Amino acid sequence: MDAADWDRKYEGRELVYGEAPNATLVEVATTLNRGRALDLASGQGRNAIWLATRGWTVDAVDFSSVALTAANRVAATAPRSVRERLTWIHADVTELPTAPNYDLVLMFYLHLPPNERRKAVSAAVSALKPEGILMILGHHTANLDAGVGGPQEAEILYTPDDLVSDIDSRLTIVTAENRYRHVSEATAIDALLLASRSPLGSEPDRG
Ligand SMILES: C[S@@+](CC[C@H](N)C(=O)[O-])C[C@H]1O[C@@H](n2cnc3c(N)ncnc32)[C@H](O)[C@@H]1O
Repeated sequence: MDAADWDRKYEGRELVYGEAPNATLVEVATTLNRGRALDLASGQGRNAIWLATRGWTVDAVDFSSVALTAANRVAATAPRSVRERLTWIHADVTELPTAPNYDLVLMFYLHLPPNERRKAVSAAVSALKPEGILMILGHHTANLDAGVGGPQEAEILYTPDDLVSDIDSRLTIVTAENRYRHVSEATAIDALLLASRSPLGSEPDRG
């Protein structure tokens, strides 16, 4: 789906993915010291806004202007201190120049063809400060046979191993595993990757 497709999906609808943050984000981020976060493909901002309410300073990037307008509308009801920690950026995450400014980078439920996904993952890796954490979560390929929900095209789904391969040894893998979400009467399978950048001065020798 391109940006116009996403704009149409969001147009005239309430919050498509709800207002509550993703449960796995809450589980992980509550173990981290707050800092600067980058939310790639932030949608209508549920995760970025939650992080900002927890004291994180967040840059949230999405190529759907309709999604960003909705995110702004929700954020407008938050206290000023929270609003001031949020920046909404209208951009394509596969073409995003990034600098190592972030303690935490999220890429949640972004489903792209593998070449495009690898570009987004590279932007995410380049955005991490030393010791920064990358968190990717999305619909697992196994949903097609054994799970439920998410896109129905195998090409844009992924497994934890696909994400490890996308990282290409640039980060230390902390977690690469399946996660199970109970939705109505069924179970959805997610692929989760947590990876960290090495501390300053200890970059692995890739030569
Ligand atoms: C399924 S939604 C997930 C939104 C959010 N991460 C969440 O978990 O609520 C996918 C989002 O990715 C955005 N998106 C897809 N491809 C993109 C790209 N190349 N650059 C920026 N945003 C993109 C869409 O506009 C959409 O908001």
